[in-house]
Amino acid sequence: MVFSRQLTKKELEQLLNMQEFVRQAHAESDSHDYSHVFTVCRYAIDIAKDIPDPIDPFVCIAGALLHDIGKTNTVFAHIHGLFGGGLAEEYLDGIGVDRTIRDSVCRVVIRHTPTSMIPPETPEEKVIYDADTLDRLGLMGLLRGFIGKTGDSMEHIMTKYMTKRRLDYDKLNYDFSRELGDSLHQELLEFLFIIEGRLNERMASIEGIFEKEGLVE
Ligand SMILES: [Fe+2]
Ligand SMILES: [Fe+2]
Repeated sequence: MVFSRQLTKKELEQLLNMQEFVRQAHAESDSHDYSHVFTVCRYAIDIAKDIPDPIDPFVCIAGALLHDIGKTNTVFAHIHGLFGGGLAEEYLDGIGVDRTIRDSVCRVVIRHTPTSMIPPETPEEKVIYDADTLDRLGLMGLLRGFIGKTGDSMEHIMTKYMTKRRLDYDKLNYDFSRELGDSLHQELLEFLFIIEGRLNERMASIEGIFEKEGLVE
């Protein structure tokens, strides 16, 4: 199955305008880069073309474009799926998208991330979930996750994100997504092995160092 239908002229125009809206919104934020959003679009189209489920092209592409729109507000980043669903609804209403299609796109935005704790159900929701997950694999995905992050120490931030990234591959919905992400996942594991080794060598405190160096009796 490729896509279930073709885009109308009006939809094509809406998607091109949406691309510019999304590019600007992400360029203004200090979290996700818009290149991530466009990479997710590319992955989503690749997956949609290969799986047996029928995929609505507008829901898929609009869902990919808007999936992280809630992340442009860093205060709500931890619930950006749910927050973004509200923003997407407003935007899609504003440009006159049909209600049924609008609701399907909003569901994609809400369910694209595990932080919403609402698993993807429709094929479009699963495709965007996988496409987003694929861009977290590999070294680029790992580095992207560190952008704008704060915490009590570098070790704490790195350990927290590395633990999450290790689990991403297993959460993919489609076999084809796993095929696409296989080499990136292997690349990620190799880097995690090196980084974790280096982290273990770093000092967590100077306790014991005085005795070891003979500085105290
Ligand atoms: Fe996200
Ligand atoms: Fe994303």
